[in-house]
Amino acid sequence: MGEWLGVIGDPIEHSLSPIMHQKWFADFGWSHHYQAFRVKRDDLKQAVDGLRALGAKGFNVTIPHKVAIMPLLDEIDDEARALGAVNTVIHTDGRLLGTNTDGLGFIESLKEKNVPYAGADVLILGAGGAARAVGLSLARHAGRVDVAGRTLEKAEALAHDIAKTTASAAYTLERAAARLDGYRLIINATPVGMTPNIDAAPLSLERISDQATCIDLIYRPLETRFMKEARQKGARVVNGLPMLIHQGALAFERWFGRRPDTAGMETYLSQILAAD
Ligand SMILES: NC(=O)c1ccc[n+]([C@@H]2O[C@H](COP(=O)([O-])OP(=O)(O)OC[C@H]3O[C@@H](n4cnc5c(N)ncnc54)[C@H](OP(=O)(O)O)[C@@H]3O)[C@@H](O)[C@H]2O)c1
Repeated sequence: MGEWLGVIGDPIEHSLSPIMHQKWFADFGWSHHYQAFRVKRDDLKQAVDGLRALGAKGFNVTIPHKVAIMPLLDEIDDEARALGAVNTVIHTDGRLLGTNTDGLGFIESLKEKNVPYAGADVLILGAGGAARAVGLSLARHAGRVDVAGRTLEKAEALAHDIAKTTASAAYTLERAAARLDGYRLIINATPVGMTPNIDAAPLSLERISDQATCIDLIYRPLETRFMKEARQKGARVVNGLPMLIHQGALAFERWFGRRPDTAGMETYLSQILAAD
């Protein structure tokens, strides 16, 4: 019998992780199985104990459990500790190790897409979990990493943490829009523009540089209004699929010691989403 794995979250029905990991299992000719489990906030401890007792090889963790799961695990590695959240758990002989592949997956996606980020001045829109993973990871490589948010206090808290590694300031979305031409990399880490609210955009791109690259962490739709407007202004655009795929590939590598095909996966998932 093959191994079994999964992802826990709530909501979880739209997760692409089962499709992605099952495709990689098929690529390798393995009979492993990866399943999405809806786990409510109050049931997290029972779910984690159940996954351990039933012998899951590992599992992914998504909203709203990435932080709450930390005290329930036996060990947390340095990367998850640095980001303050766990997105991947590795099960070895009854012990659960929590790690986080979101930030490294994002950096891998930049490398795959040849997006220049070393020394670049970066603006991150949003100050939630994804913004934190992306911002703290980019801080190790970029020039300055500023944060713009709807709630200035939250943007300030993230900028404060980024500033331990590189220069960082926090702005409202309006102020950031007014100084947009200073950034070479602009990342939307808010859900603004996601299906079904596809006409929404996080900020005005009037002042964007045509030398900029804009990355939207959203992949439903495949091209958001933010991406479309940036493209029309001459900027390069990337959607959220490469990050999703690379965080998944790094988790897969941690579980199985094998590197799955990431480039083929983008085409595969794009076709599935386009037909949605
Ligand atoms: N591609 C990937 O692999 C990947 C991975 C993770 C997440 N994501 C995507 O990234 C996005 C953020 O996820 P998350 O986990 O960071 O969520 P989160 O922790 O809930 O954070 C969301 C952030 O967006 C801001 N925001 C929400 N609604 C807004 C609005 N109407 N106007 C302005 N700002 C708004 C929030 O502002 P406040 O600070 O005011 O609350 C918060 O800072 C989602 O679209 C998610 O699907 C993609």
